Amino acid sequence: MAGKDNIMDKIISLCKRRGFIYQGSEIYGGLAGTWDYGPLGVAFKKNVENLWWKRFVLDREDIYPIDAAILMNQNVWKASGHVDGFSDPLVEDIKTKKRYRADHLLEASGISAKGLKLSDINSKIQELKLKSPDGNPLGEVKQFNMMLKTHIGATEDSSAISYLRPETAGGMFVNFKNVLDSFHPKLPFGLAQIGKAFRNEIAPRDFLFRVREIEQMEIEYFIDPKSWEKIFDDFTEQLVEYSKDLGLDQKKVHKLEVAPEDRAHYSKRTIDFEFDYPFGREELWGLAYRTNFDLSAHSKASKAPLEYFDEETKEKLIPHVIEPSLGVGRTMLAILTDAYREDELGGEAREYLKLSPKVAPVILAVFPLMKNRPELVKRAREIYLDLRKKIKSINPHLSGQIVYDETGSIGKRYRRQDEIGTPFCLTIDFDTIEKDGSVTIRDRDTGQQERVKPEDLEKFLEKKLN
Ligand code: GAP
Repeated sequence: MAGKDNIMDKIISLCKRRGFIYQGSEIYGGLAGTWDYGPLGVAFKKNVENLWWKRFVLDREDIYPIDAAILMNQNVWKASGHVDGFSDPLVEDIKTKKRYRADHLLEASGISAKGLKLSDINSKIQELKLKSPDGNPLGEVKQFNMMLKTHIGATEDSSAISYLRPETAGGMFVNFKNVLDSFHPKLPFGLAQIGKAFRNEIAPRDFLFRVREIEQMEIEYFIDPKSWEKIFDDFTEQLVEYSKDLGLDQKKVHKLEVAPEDRAHYSKRTIDFEFDYPFGREELWGLAYRTNFDLSAHSKASKAPLEYFDEETKEKLIPHVIEPSLGVGRTMLAILTDAYREDELGGEAREYLKLSPKVAPVILAVFPLMKNRPELVKRAREIYLDLRKKIKSINPHLSGQIVYDETGSIGKRYRRQDEIGTPFCLTIDFDTIEKDGSVTIRDRDTGQQERVKPEDLEKFLEKKLN
């Protein structure tokens, strides 16, 4: 049985080898906490996003999509509390000058840092005379703001400061009034977006788990506070359903009620969805009741009236917010670690991804049994091109492709597809040409093949892909 680090190394290596995910800026030695998506990674990522978009936006009448700018007026982040409060406790190795998360060092020595103030973390580190991982003394614990700061335009004075947004949420709070004025939705309603967010994480780690350039899928759902509990429960259920859409093993998905002292400054209730990764149980997604903290703060700071007028009660209120917040990369990592398998098939060791057809980057690979037989190649190309045209009507939400491959032996082709998680391989053999036109379809997980008539191919795929 491979150890946890070994499994992570194997997954990272498979992702690079097969064109899912590469280290960011790799030819220059990389840039920690950044990853680039290759051709298969793009299709896989789109599937993860499309399933979310379908469940939470397309299939609902009450959620409005937006796509806000990453760069925002610095006052957005002052009002939201991020300029003053979005920080981690850091401590410096006084010899090497390397910096570490003070709470993590404390936790590594068996002491929980949850809910501790900066001064308490500092006292404990000094009391215990904790050393850096290089064995050197540590300095004073200091707060370190995690936002990535930049300057807009030609000047570099304080008025030109901007930040790469640390969460996509900010773009939705500042557009609340715009959408209200354009569409006049009734409460409850939500804004949704998928986009990049940036955090200057001190210790990026575990592949896609903790990165500096994050992709988030977030909803700010505006409500009357009277109904917050029911809506919170509904979103909890919807997130569980989404984890099923992705094909995640439900035994590895857990809900953690976050204790008051561990919640973000704006939250009155938070549930963390956790996942059993190879390196342990850790956060996958968050669901928070943000009260009306954000709209109140932005209304006060910007002087814009971010209120809702209730036609029935004739009263104005500042809506409260329920926020499901999901990291795309963390979701992909959960799926990859859940799907990674090693087994033996036909007496040969194999490494493969047991991906659901709904997230697999390639849904179906079409092969001629032999590439030097023109009649097999011709028929294989016809079926391939025909299915490529039809796949969108079979399931319009899939980004997985249909591919054609004739290189190497048929066994090698199967292995290549297994490794990237392709659920089905279709082969044109001599019986296809000489008998009833039927093809073989091989199932990735069992290696079993069944013969399917050409007129039944669409029905076969429809059954498997919906
Ligand atoms: N708007 C709320 C918010 O951003 P968060 O718990 O800080 O809350 C939400 O982040 C989700 O974004 C997390 O549950 C995780 O899926 C993802 N995420 C946050 N920081 C991340 C990081 N450094 N690397 C990868 N994913 C991250």
